[in-house]
Amino acid sequence: MIIRFLVRFWLCCSVYAGVGGLAGCTRAAPKRQYTIGFSQCTNGDAWRQAMLAGMQKELSFHPEVRFRMKDARYSSALQEQQIREFLKEGIDLLIVSANETEPVTPIVEEAYNRGIPVVILDRRTTSKLYTAYVGGNNVEVGQTAARYAAGLLGERGQVLEVLGAPGSSPATDRHRGFAQALAGYPGMQLVARVNSNWERPSVLARLPAVLRQHPEVDLIFAHNDRLALGAYQVCKQLKRERQVRIVGVDGLPGPHGGIQLVQDGIINSTLLYSPGGEEAIRTAMRILQHQSFEKENPLSTMVIDSTNVLTMKLQTEKLSSQQQDIQRQQRLLQQQRATYASQQTVLYVLAAALLGAAGLGVLVWRAFRANRRITRRLALQNEEIRAQRNQIQDFAEQARVETEAKLRFFTNFSHELRTPLTLILGPVEEMLTSGPNLPAAQRHDLGLVRRNAQRLLQLVNQLMDFRKIDVGKMPVRATEGNLVAFVREIMDVFERPARQQGIRLRFLPAEPALPLWFDANVLDKVFFNLLSNALKFTPEGGQITVSMQRVPAENAVRVSVEDTGRGISEQDRAHIFEWFYQGQQSVAKGSGMGLALALGLTRLHQGTLSFTSQPGRGSTFVVTLPLELPQELKSMEAVAPVNLGFSVEEDLLPALRPEPEAAVSGSEALVLVIEDNPEVNAFLVQKLRPHFQVSAAFDGARGLELAADSIPDLIICDVMLPELSGLEVVARLKSDWRTSHIPVVLLTARGASEQQVEGVQAGADLYLTKPFNPTFLLESIRTLLSNREKQREHFRRELSVSTATVAPQRVDQKFLADLTAIVEANLSRSELNVEDVARSLGISRVQLYRKVKAVLGTGVTDFIQGIRLTKARQLLLSDELTIAEVAYQLGFSSPSYFSTSFKARYQVSPSEFRALHTTA
Ligand code: FRU
Repeated sequence: MIIRFLVRFWLCCSVYAGVGGLAGCTRAAPKRQYTIGFSQCTNGDAWRQAMLAGMQKELSFHPEVRFRMKDARYSSALQEQQIREFLKEGIDLLIVSANETEPVTPIVEEAYNRGIPVVILDRRTTSKLYTAYVGGNNVEVGQTAARYAAGLLGERGQVLEVLGAPGSSPATDRHRGFAQALAGYPGMQLVARVNSNWERPSVLARLPAVLRQHPEVDLIFAHNDRLALGAYQVCKQLKRERQVRIVGVDGLPGPHGGIQLVQDGIINSTLLYSPGGEEAIRTAMRILQHQSFEKENPLSTMVIDSTNVLTMKLQTEKLSSQQQDIQRQQRLLQQQRATYASQQTVLYVLAAALLGAAGLGVLVWRAFRANRRITRRLALQNEEIRAQRNQIQDFAEQARVETEAKLRFFTNFSHELRTPLTLILGPVEEMLTSGPNLPAAQRHDLGLVRRNAQRLLQLVNQLMDFRKIDVGKMPVRATEGNLVAFVREIMDVFERPARQQGIRLRFLPAEPALPLWFDANVLDKVFFNLLSNALKFTPEGGQITVSMQRVPAENAVRVSVEDTGRGISEQDRAHIFEWFYQGQQSVAKGSGMGLALALGLTRLHQGTLSFTSQPGRGSTFVVTLPLELPQELKSMEAVAPVNLGFSVEEDLLPALRPEPEAAVSGSEALVLVIEDNPEVNAFLVQKLRPHFQVSAAFDGARGLELAADSIPDLIICDVMLPELSGLEVVARLKSDWRTSHIPVVLLTARGASEQQVEGVQAGADLYLTKPFNPTFLLESIRTLLSNREKQREHFRRELSVSTATVAPQRVDQKFLADLTAIVEANLSRSELNVEDVARSLGISRVQLYRKVKAVLGTGVTDFIQGIRLTKARQLLLSDELTIAEVAYQLGFSSPSYFSTSFKARYQVSPSEFRALHTTA
């Protein structure tokens, strides 16, 4: 809208200025500029000034003309010089009023010959080389004067002539015309001539003498009115003013002009001689504008005397006032023009400003539209980006979920790998350790199988560790230990393979012992992986140096593993700590997990792992561990190394397997195996049968049944059982007093330590991760059974002193308390037997037997007998009952059987016992 208005307004202004403009005048095509030079013979009299005024009046119609006048002040030499100056300065047209004809002619001809138009005004040169002439006919002026004089004097009289300056054309011509015409009147005589310089003083000086010489002169013809006035004054001086008539030339209006002189009766008449300024400019302009013009432009003359002077005066005054009006109007016009010009300038400025504003407006408008377009586009792009972002987020979430699922699958898959590994490693292990007569070739092959299965196991373990670190479930449980000894132990493992590969292994601890809080399980993997890596990449004849020192400035300890291997290439450097990254050179040398795991575990341990490497010269890995660990990472209990069944270094050390200890015969002990995998179940049974009595169950419920029925000496239970989990089985076993005493070994592929804790919390006595080393399992079973034996001893001792000391804190202790209470309540019954007690407890005789045997290591009858004899000691200490009465009260069939039994147990007879204690 605004733009349209501005454009319309501008168009209106343009049209208005173009068609009429503010001054209402038609705009013509711009006029050419002209310079007119005017060489004036003199500017010192009123006639010449009237000439100039006329020129200027006419020039006021030609603002395009630059007009310049030079005043020669009656000097022909000066006039020539001034015309030369004009030529030099450059003029388009020359107007000349020659002071004298002869001297000025050459320079005027030169100007003409140069192509400059020449307008001769009033006074001529001798040459015909001019463009135009403007001025009165001076011969005619002279003739008219002569005729007038003749008429005035009745054609009879003496005449005196006062001439203009000699050498000037008007003087010459007027005289010629006057003399010629006068000759036509025989009665008229030109008696004397007086030369002048056109000005009055020259007359005043010369005329008196001549006039005195001619006392009869009737008339003086003066060549201009100024000379005529001088002549009158001379006549007056000589008192001849009434006698001598005077005729002048020019007829100027104004107070001192010829018309006034006529009217005042000072002179008789004057001949009109127009200055011709206007006409000269008009002619010059026609020449300059290439319009037709007359070469000769004579100005007419007439006689002004007493007969017409008034009319002339009135006319000239009127003319003069009109002239003044015109001039005033011209001035007004000029002012208006100036105003118009300035207004025009203002208009132009305004128009330009308006145009500029309109232009700016257009720009602003376009910018606004562009801006709106861009904003709209940006909004669209924004929307697109938002949609893309949402999409990316969705993808990311989907990817996360998928990755999570994959990792879960991955981890579970790894778990699953442990079971077959158990079934591979177990028999192999068995064959290698229990077959001393194995042929060398078979031993070698089996070693190969074991090594590779162990390698696979190591991978599985590392994968599991990766997952644990990844989900933040790898705990750090630091205990205080000697890091030097710890690292040395790990290095010992590498001693032999290094030697076999011709690699020198050096350990340079800065101090002999370095006490530090650290998690052996975590750091074991870190250093093992670094050493393993060094060993892999160091060639024969190389060297691996492990050094260790404190860094007090960092409050840390630094362990560096330096090798002389081939180093790490430039392109591998940025990636060697990435999971599953296999460098360009390390293909087939590793899983791509060792270093990543080492870094993850070091960080977990609040440490840093860095490396430097020189390709071709070796690498150094530096582990920096803090001397102080946060409290929450410290474990107050000694944490046993997580037993993986097989040490990961076995693939490096096939010959280092310890020989199993000779199997201790435990054939009396009953071991119950609860394992759902038939192969593992069978494997376990097979492994245990040579050493124990073994029964097997394939699910938790059946396991519990068997446990309650047979009260085994030890139960091996898998955690991952269908329906009833291993943890639940343990919990139930431990809460049932019949089975609560039985040691339980939990067996699982799930190695996470928190699961181990869970298992132990449920009551498991040992937690073994698959795949397990059968030898280790056997040893563990033996240890648990021997611990159980010690416990029995403890219970027996407690019972032997007092049943009251048996605190019912544990299920076993409660069972003992219940059993004791039943027996004590039935002590007087001699026929009390195992059957009765079992019935009272709600279990079978066999169950009771096995339970008592398991908890106390004795038979039920022995237990009842023990209670009777203990009670006997109490009764014997008081005198209330006789020995026989004590015997019957405690259900002994006879006093002698009581005495025999008592003596057998306490080495003294009841009577001796009573005598001893009562006396005391
Ligand atoms: C003025 C004047 C006039 C005379 C004319 C002749 O300078 O003397 O009075 O008519 O010159 O050129």
